[in-house]
Amino acid sequence: MKIAVLGAAGQLGRDLCPRLAALGDVVPLSRTDIDLARPETIGPAVAAHRPDVFVNCAAYNLVDKAEAEPDAAFAVNDFGVRVLAQACQTIWAKLVHFSTDYVFGADERRNTPLAEADPPGPVSRYGASKLRGEQHALEAGANNLAIRTCGLYGVWGSGGKGGNFVETMLRLAGQGKPLKVVDDQRCTPSYTADVAAATVELIARGAAGLYHVVNSGDCTWYEFAAESFRQSNLAPALTPITSAEFGAAAKRPAYSVLSTAKLTALGVTPPRNWRDALAAYLVERANRPSTS
Ligand SMILES: NC(=O)c1ccc[n+]([C@@H]2O[C@H](COP(=O)([O-])OP(=O)(O)OC[C@H]3O[C@@H](n4cnc5c(N)ncnc54)[C@H](OP(=O)(O)O)[C@@H]3O)[C@@H](O)[C@H]2O)c1
Repeated sequence: MKIAVLGAAGQLGRDLCPRLAALGDVVPLSRTDIDLARPETIGPAVAAHRPDVFVNCAAYNLVDKAEAEPDAAFAVNDFGVRVLAQACQTIWAKLVHFSTDYVFGADERRNTPLAEADPPGPVSRYGASKLRGEQHALEAGANNLAIRTCGLYGVWGSGGKGGNFVETMLRLAGQGKPLKVVDDQRCTPSYTADVAAATVELIARGAAGLYHVVNSGDCTWYEFAAESFRQSNLAPALTPITSAEFGAAAKRPAYSVLSTAKLTALGVTPPRNWRDALAAYLVERANRPSTS
């Protein structure tokens, strides 16, 4: 089986590629091969590589910036994915596409885990653009797979964002700065190594349709920061604040905990608790060679 991976150098892509090698020959692709913002680059590259499975880890991920430049977000996450999905369908390749918990948020009273069948309702332009993308992926072919995940962190950092939440917290704590972190957004930050492993299991089982893939349990970003410090034996001044106090450009869901019941019902290994995943991440980053 030939598996092409776009966004292979991103945070998730770098954890996914070595694991996908268990299923077949992996062809890592970058923006140089396919630029989703330039649709004319998509069809020829897909046809040239002719993969059996095309995994799209690439996205416009700048959540706050998307409020000011929605056209750039929609060009990649909406229109680019539509063209990609059509190109994959043309060669009968299965498209595996990643989406986000930010497709939710409009139901402000929600306080129980969200299932794949729950109606989406994004509250940001990024979320709206990603919702369109997952719809394109699923509409283009019955064999396609869309995976919603949340709050990714992995040892490779997030390409477009430079680092990840845990790294930012540890860096600021190391600088002795007092920290204020939002405590009114509840979700499940997820370790890219675990999301990658579950993705490989889903592909191996021939899963199609929409799946939620996140670690289990839930926390606010304040709680996640506090646990990161506890496990790292750090004790910076940490204060919980509201989203309104933080004042980000983009609105985020107050509650976007994703249910993984559908994933586990399929027989995929149940994702571990977010605290255990965080511990594994901290071990992996401590052992990561400094040159890679
Ligand atoms: N990060 C999160 O917290 C989070 C949460 C929920 C869902 N997700 C979703 O999970 C997936 C993986 O996220 P990630 O954190 O691994 O992202 P990432 O580290 O930012 O990597 C994204 C990759 O996409 C590439 N890319 C960006 N724009 C592109 C374009 N126009 N054409 C081709 N490639 C492009 C980037 O390449 P360059 O290096 O050249 O820019 C990078 O390799 C995405 O679909 C994202 O929406 C992420």
